[in-house]
Amino acid sequence: MCGIVGYLGNGNAKEIVLDGLERLEYRGYDSAGVGLFDSERKTYRIFKEKGRIDDLKRVINTESAAAGIGHTRWATHGKVTKENAHPHTSRNGRFIVVHNGVVDNFRALRSEYLDAFRLESETDTEIIANLFEVFAAALPVQDAIREGLKRLEGSYALLIMDREDSGTVYAAKHKSPLLIGSAHSGVVAGSDLMALADHADAYLALEDGTFAELRPDGFSLYDLNGGALDYTLREMDAEVVESDKGAYPHYMLKEIHEQPIILRRILDAYTDEEERPDFPNSVLETIRKSGRIHILAAGTSMHAGLVAKPLFETLTEKPAEVHVASEFAHHTPLIDSDSLFILISQSGETADLRACLNRLKDEGYPTLTVTNVRTSTLAREADAFVEIHAGPEIAVASTKAYSAQIAVLSLLAHAAGASGMPMKREISNIAQSIEKFLEQADAVHDHVKSMLEGKSHAFYIGRGVDHAVALEASLKLKEISYIHTEGLAAGELKHGTLALIEEGTPVFALISQPSTALHTQSSISEIESRGGRVLTIGTEDVAEEAHIALRKTHPLLAPLVLVVPAQLIAYYAALELGNDIDKPRNLAKSVTVE
Ligand code: AGP
Repeated sequence: MCGIVGYLGNGNAKEIVLDGLERLEYRGYDSAGVGLFDSERKTYRIFKEKGRIDDLKRVINTESAAAGIGHTRWATHGKVTKENAHPHTSRNGRFIVVHNGVVDNFRALRSEYLDAFRLESETDTEIIANLFEVFAAALPVQDAIREGLKRLEGSYALLIMDREDSGTVYAAKHKSPLLIGSAHSGVVAGSDLMALADHADAYLALEDGTFAELRPDGFSLYDLNGGALDYTLREMDAEVVESDKGAYPHYMLKEIHEQPIILRRILDAYTDEEERPDFPNSVLETIRKSGRIHILAAGTSMHAGLVAKPLFETLTEKPAEVHVASEFAHHTPLIDSDSLFILISQSGETADLRACLNRLKDEGYPTLTVTNVRTSTLAREADAFVEIHAGPEIAVASTKAYSAQIAVLSLLAHAAGASGMPMKREISNIAQSIEKFLEQADAVHDHVKSMLEGKSHAFYIGRGVDHAVALEASLKLKEISYIHTEGLAAGELKHGTLALIEEGTPVFALISQPSTALHTQSSISEIESRGGRVLTIGTEDVAEEAHIALRKTHPLLAPLVLVVPAQLIAYYAALELGNDIDKPRNLAKSVTVE
């Protein structure tokens, strides 16, 4: 996912923009660039590089800037090259543009308006910059930009500088997130709150179709026809400001260790003094009125949905189905008219889910987003949203958000249902169990060395919700260690995958369910009798001699404890291999392209 940052004011735009880009690094990128109004030279300068922001910093020889825009690029249109890095300028150099999003009709625009133009890059963004130039030949600059914006189809968050006016930066937003903050010394803009955190004390998230004029002393909002728009600023969230590694070597390890605190924060947020769940009644009524619950998500969030399915079915007695968002968007099953759709997304920006949401809204289904980002597209465009309060999750490999999603969905299902389950006490005990377990994290490191050293394949097996955790555990391991890992239903082994088991094949067996513990034990015997090496992770009540034993929990909530060793296994495996733990290759924190 690309990231954009802009600043205008009495501070040093170069420092503020670069700091904002560094705070967006977690989103994943392969090149970066800045456009600056150099205060000493009194001229605009553009710097861009393939690779990391540190590589970019080395080529910037502007000391201070009164205005600046910056960009981290995760390539969609055009290869990873310096030429394709942002900012892009119009042919006459007047407009300097950074862009997050995808313009679907950029070829049609190019042939209609820019036929005579020789373009420097393969990007849709350069088309946008030149479109502004074309209209500026006959219109005042704001009208020219708005005319260009009206012709764009697709998604954009744009920051635009005009060489003819160093006192202004323009911003525009449609489907890609963009926030503006009143900074201590000027105005700051960025793709998410992280980019604003250090420099703004209040902010707002732009709505689709908004155009903004930023000045050192403030900003004005307009619709695309030039009509002025009112706005109210929100206080900067304390949770956002807390996001740095602190004493931890990696964000991922910090976020694994934050899980007990976050579970307690969720209990504070969603239960009252009498331990009763505390959600908006409208949300609970929507769940109660539905005849069937459909859960849509991607990746780790989909795995959280797999854990939520039995929770909703048991606690609300309503059938629940889980769908992979990228599949659902194109292969929609038969849907009952009284269905409710719950969209789970840490970032709230996943394009696969946004595609689903657009269709669900067109078809009139009720939608509820469960997300970590209240200003995100999915939070704002669904009928309602529930926050998971996990605080900024920086590591690409999602850990605390997974646990937070399960905890919030557990409380939500409990609140909508009529079960007498002591949910608050159960989750509070789980927070303690995780805390206790994390004290022995080093033992997990030892297991990793003996199980995975020199291995290029691994398996996770489980039954029921243990299978759901096996899928998440397998994703964690493969996405940061790059060891090919498969999570599968233990009962499926003998139907084919057992053929892959040979001397020393590492298998992690998950056992937390009284109803299936013995069956999984026999799967373990099948594996060991063929030379496989099995490490058992289980709750002490059902997993005899588990190598990694966890305190007994309610079976429906066992994934919250079972996943923690799996998260650490992935972490230590990647550490042993010297991989970039927080920013694994090829991956982005939020996937905003389908
Ligand atoms: C999980 O470790 C991955 N980073 C990825 O699968 C992620 O869960 C997925 O892209 C969904 O993201 P979201 O929760 O922000 O929608």
